[in-house]
Amino acid sequence: MNPNGSGSIFDEFLNANSIFLNKEVLRHSYTPDYLPHRDEQIRSIAAILSPALRGETPSNILIYGKTGTGKTAVARYVGKELENVGRNRNVPCHVVYLNCEIIDTQYRVLANLSKYFNREVPMTGWPTDQVYQEFKNAIDRHRAVIIIILDEIDKLVKKGDEVLYNLSRINSELDNAKVSLIGISNDLKFTEYLDPRVRSSLGEEEIVFPPYDAQQLRDILEERAKLGFRDGVLEDGVIPLCAAFAAQEHGDARRALDLLRIAGELAEREGAEKVTERHVRLAQEKIEIDRIVEVIKTLPMHSKVLLYSVVFLESSNVRGATSGEVYRVYKEICREIGIEPLTPRRITDLISELDMLGIINATIVNKGRYGRTKEITLSVPLESTKSVLLSDYRLSNLKDFTQKLSVQSHF
Ligand SMILES: Nc1ncnc2c1ncn2[C@@H]1O[C@H](COP(=O)(O)OP(=O)(O)OP(=O)(O)O)[C@@H](O)[C@H]1O
Ligand SMILES: [Mg+2]
Repeated sequence: MNPNGSGSIFDEFLNANSIFLNKEVLRHSYTPDYLPHRDEQIRSIAAILSPALRGETPSNILIYGKTGTGKTAVARYVGKELENVGRNRNVPCHVVYLNCEIIDTQYRVLANLSKYFNREVPMTGWPTDQVYQEFKNAIDRHRAVIIIILDEIDKLVKKGDEVLYNLSRINSELDNAKVSLIGISNDLKFTEYLDPRVRSSLGEEEIVFPPYDAQQLRDILEERAKLGFRDGVLEDGVIPLCAAFAAQEHGDARRALDLLRIAGELAEREGAEKVTERHVRLAQEKIEIDRIVEVIKTLPMHSKVLLYSVVFLESSNVRGATSGEVYRVYKEICREIGIEPLTPRRITDLISELDMLGIINATIVNKGRYGRTKEITLSVPLESTKSVLLSDYRLSNLKDFTQKLSVQSHF
């Protein structure tokens, strides 16, 4: 009880929770039990893995597909089912899931696998051969089929394919256990870097996950919304709009779910009773700004100065400045913050890079007898871009510079 009155200080926030039934089911970490529009892929993987239920070694599988096409969700779901059925039929099947974004070296992969089978291996320090031996001994004590899911396998390959070479040949060194691999990647080209023997072994079976279309995304969202939101809080246009936005973004279910969750959060924060299309549009804007902020924050110094030049010109109402004009401002700014400017040629390259990142738009225009030049406009919101740039300590004193230059008449 709150001494200042009735109820606790949290009541207001708890009661505000009229939008969500269970927000957790809208998060990335949640794996749903029902995956609409992935029956075909689920069946294919189940068919390939089914020998495991007779104690035989399944073929290795490579799963490809763009981001948010359900690769991880499907692989984990099928893995879980396989373990369940194996348990019921008394045929032990172990499915070990490793995310190679985090577990990104041969040593870490082997140490994590050993740990899964209750062998204590320090996370660094042993010779790799010893860890490999430890893992092999640990699994070979039993007759069991072990499926190793290597998610984001391309991240592992970046540091060499030795571990894949070893794992793909391990069966010839085992007496009891049997191992097969499932590699998952959204980089279609990563196998080019593999040793041909590893490539053919790992890619015995290949499954491609196509992007979802807007209708499929709607079905996915409908299912999830039933679990995540209270009845009737979503206005009719909300799910179709989330689906349409995400379909433009190459059919990414993660994006669709993010939009729906964030739209709900925005509605909740406003104390609204319903989630509307306006909330979805705001959510789309928020996601886009967050993405841009991340990209801009990590730009190299000179690209930031260059971008600030465009921001500066647009703040002074010069939209569609030529590359020459941008270069002049860029040089001024370099002088102001005490760095050596790059050559116009290098700046032309950086302009193309920013264009490719979708931060600016550079169009070639014909200026008659003055030849061709590029006209540059900002493709991202002016104010947020400016504040991200100024948050870099090296650019922070440009706040005053803006005023200084803007009083000069030729801008
Ligand atoms: N068919 C589906 N039904 C329900 N939810 C889905 C479906 N496909 C994907 N999802 C959900 O969308 C999100 C993204 O899916 P997932 O993580 O499986 O994508 P991914 O293909 O592994 O992407 P990435 O390549 O970026 O890792 C997850 O929250 C997942 O639960
Ligand atoms: Mg994934």
